[in-house]
Formats: sequence, C-alpha cells, structure tokens
Amino acid sequence: MPQHVAFIMDGNGRWAKARGMPRLEGHRQGVESVRKVCEQLVREGIPYATFYAFSTENWKRSQEEVGGLFKLFRLYFGKELGKLGEQGVRVRFIGARDKERLGADIVAMMEEAEAKTAGNTKLTALFAINYGGRDEIVRAARKLAAESGEIDEARFGDALDTAGVPDVDLMIRTSGEQRLSNFLLWQLAYAELVFTKVAWPDFGAEELQSALDDFMGRERRFGGVVENMGG
Ligand code: IPE
Ligand code: IPE
Ligand code: MG
Repeated sequence: MPQHVAFIMDGNGRWAKARGMPRLEGHRQGVESVRKVCEQLVREGIPYATFYAFSTENWKRSQEEVGGLFKLFRLYFGKELGKLGEQGVRVRFIGARDKERLGADIVAMMEEAEAKTAGNTKLTALFAINYGGRDEIVRAARKLAAESGEIDEARFGDALDTAGVPDVDLMIRTSGEQRLSNFLLWQLAYAELVFTKVAWPDFGAEELQSALDDFMGRERRFGGVVENMGG
C-alpha cells in the first residue's frame, strides 16, 4: 500500500461548465470529493495525503474566480477542517504563507487548524495553497543558504514544506491532463503516476480504489533490477 498519495484535483471548472453552472460550483462540489477521499484513506490506513488546492500560477485567473476560491477556503477551513479533525485527521498546509497575498485571516485559520489537529494520527492531510514546486525548492535553498553546514538530500528535504513527510508513492491527477503543473517536484521523484479522465467533483471512493489497484500492480524498481522470480 502507498504511504503517501498526492492529488492534483483538476477539472472542477470543466465539470461545472458541462452542466451549465459557474466554475465556482465545480470548486464547491470538489470539497465533497476531498471529504470522501479522506474518509477512504482513513479506512485504508494510508497515513499521508496531499491535495493541490491552489497553485502559485492560479493567481493568473480572473479576480472573480480567485475571490470565489478564497471565499470557499474561508468556509472550508472553518467547517470542513473541523470535521476532518474530529475524525482524527491531522491538517497541514504547504505553500508560501504570504499574509499579504492570502490574507492574514486565512493564514490565521491555517495556523489554528494545524495547532488544533497536531495530535491527530489517523491521516495527515496536507493542503497545498499558494504552492509551487519551484517556489518551495527556492525557499528551501534560501533557508539553507542562510545556515551553515553540509547540504545533502536529507537536509534539503527537511528544509522543504513537507519536512517529515515521506516521498509521494502515488500521484493521481483527475480530468485527463497529463502533466505535473509545478506540483511536488522534489517529492514526486519516484512516484507512480495515475491519470484519470474523471473530473475531481466526480472522484470518490470507487475511483480511488481503482487507482490503488493500479498502483498495487506496478513494479517499482527505483533504478535497480528486480530479480526474475520464475528462474
Ligand atoms: C482545479 O480545477 C481546481 C483549481 C485549480 C483551483 P480547475 O479550476 O483547474 O478546473 P478546469 O481544469 O479548468 O476544468
Ligand atoms: C493544477 O491545475 C493546480 C491545482 C489543481 C490547484 P491547473 O488547472 O491550474 O493546471 P494547468 O493550468 O492545467 O496546468
Ligand atoms: Mg485545471
């Protein structure tokens, strides 16, 4: 079983458009999918998950959409994250915690959710907000440049937002696009990738199960050679 599953929650806008609804309705429905997926991960005993919610590139979208998304985050952080916490989920955020860009209230809500759920152990759910893989790597490099000592992979990994979280085993992207879009560039080094045509608002326990089955059938070699079992 994978220890860490990461999700590029894509296709909310197209899902809504196909139903004659505003894009934001797709984002709203996407929140439901996060809830369902977290429940399933807890059931499966998978300890880490990361959800890509807002990228450093998503600021390019219309003011209306960005504003709507942050309204949704405010709602979500208050209510849904509380529910997740009650289910034993530990919440963490990755991405640049820029108070000016995100809003001081959002950052305060993030810190509160992290503090409140810090003792939970069933599942650690990381939410990537104002997150870019390159930005994270540059911030880590800056941090290390300001300190002294040898730099190796372990120390570099500890300077990333995901410090203490194992590398991603399985990355799932919904809605057909087959690219990383600046997600977890360091942590995905040896991840198995699953791309599904299903849009994020339609993604649930069944779709997750099929991705897990796919993962279980893969042979992971990490650059080595798997001995021929049959002789
Ligand atoms: C993913 O869905 C959610 C965010 C990026 C916030 P999109 O909004 O990218 O939906 P599509 O890809 O345009 O359909
Ligand atoms: C990636 O999706 C970001 C999130 C899911 C938050 P995008 O929809 O922004 O990615 P591109 O533009 O298709 O690469
Ligand atoms: Mg998209």
